[in-house]
Amino acid sequence: MHHNSKLPHVGTTIFTVMSTLAQQYKALNLSQGFPNFKSDQKLIDLVTNAMNSDYNQYAPMAGNLELRVAITNKFERLYNSTYHPDSEITITAGATQAIFTIISTFIKPDDEVLIFRPAYDCYEPAIELNGGKTISVQLEAPHYKVDWTVVSRKINSRTKMVIINTPQNPSGTIFSEEDMLQLQDLLEGTDIILLSDEVYEHIIFDDKKHQSACLFPDLKSRSFVVASFGKTFHNTGWKLGYCCAPKALMAEFQKVHQFNVFCVNHPMQKALADYLQDPIHYLKLSDFYQRKRDLFLSLIKDSRFQFTPAQGAYFQILDYSNITMEKDVDFAKRLTIDHKIASIPLSVFNTDNLDNKVLRFCFAKTDDTLKQAADILNTI
Ligand SMILES: Cc1ncc(COP(=O)(O)O)c(C=O)c1O
Repeated sequence: MHHNSKLPHVGTTIFTVMSTLAQQYKALNLSQGFPNFKSDQKLIDLVTNAMNSDYNQYAPMAGNLELRVAITNKFERLYNSTYHPDSEITITAGATQAIFTIISTFIKPDDEVLIFRPAYDCYEPAIELNGGKTISVQLEAPHYKVDWTVVSRKINSRTKMVIINTPQNPSGTIFSEEDMLQLQDLLEGTDIILLSDEVYEHIIFDDKKHQSACLFPDLKSRSFVVASFGKTFHNTGWKLGYCCAPKALMAEFQKVHQFNVFCVNHPMQKALADYLQDPIHYLKLSDFYQRKRDLFLSLIKDSRFQFTPAQGAYFQILDYSNITMEKDVDFAKRLTIDHKIASIPLSVFNTDNLDNKVLRFCFAKTDDTLKQAADILNTI
């Protein structure tokens, strides 16, 4: 049977390629972004409790109400910003489903969506499936700072949505307050929707403050803020996340959500609602990961890799231009096969696969794994 692919350019992702290679060659896997340590036993027990307490049937379409209330409380505590639990929050199957649904809800053929590269890889296929056009702003290594005059030149009457991601995967950089104010100015008076991917909001270093879109009133009025419990509570396999938006935007989102999944895993939602009662569980996360970042970087400080410490998220990018001028994809494969350490080449996230000789390493790993990784990197 003949069929025309709706995504002719999408093949196996680099994450699958590198993880498969890592397995095949028994390499340390610092490629994919997931922790290799356990989620809190307390949280796991709360899921069992929920299952034993009748939370085994469909949740409400928007999600378990106690969880939505816990999220409302979190936004008020951290950002002094209110999202109403009845109409402005939806629990999703990870941030990925929130992102896919937001894009599907609003993007029509020929609408333009602006993204910043290097970019996480789930935005573009969702835009393309809906007939939209991805407009990329390539950020330049090594600092990946946004030039807002370039952004303003790319915004026009066809621009329907802007997607930002702070702290950013894969660069580990963050948007400053000034960045957010510039963005707010650019979007003011337009009907452009902002999708603010904030899945690493609780992983931010050196006493910097996370600049959520909800902190900026005009941005908030046009934004979906997207979050992921998997990133926050070390259980990416549970695939639970959520998004928040003003009522009118959320009403449109839920029209699509209810016929896509209707609702997501109920006992885990109940468990997360209970677990979120103690804010320490997310407040301590930045310190936890900053210690890991600092350990990893102190161990490789005399290696031939060059770096600027990550400002947020759990990825550290390393520049290897002192070592070789091989293509980053080739070098990443060679490191996996010959040196038994897997990473992700940054070019896969860039416009036209721009290759700055940079690899991404995930440091959401046990100290022991980080030490083994450093031992290898110091020999290269
Ligand atoms: C920037 C970014 N957004 C979204 C996601 C997806 O999150 P989830 O696993 O909750 O679907 C990830 C996961 O790696 C990510 O790095």
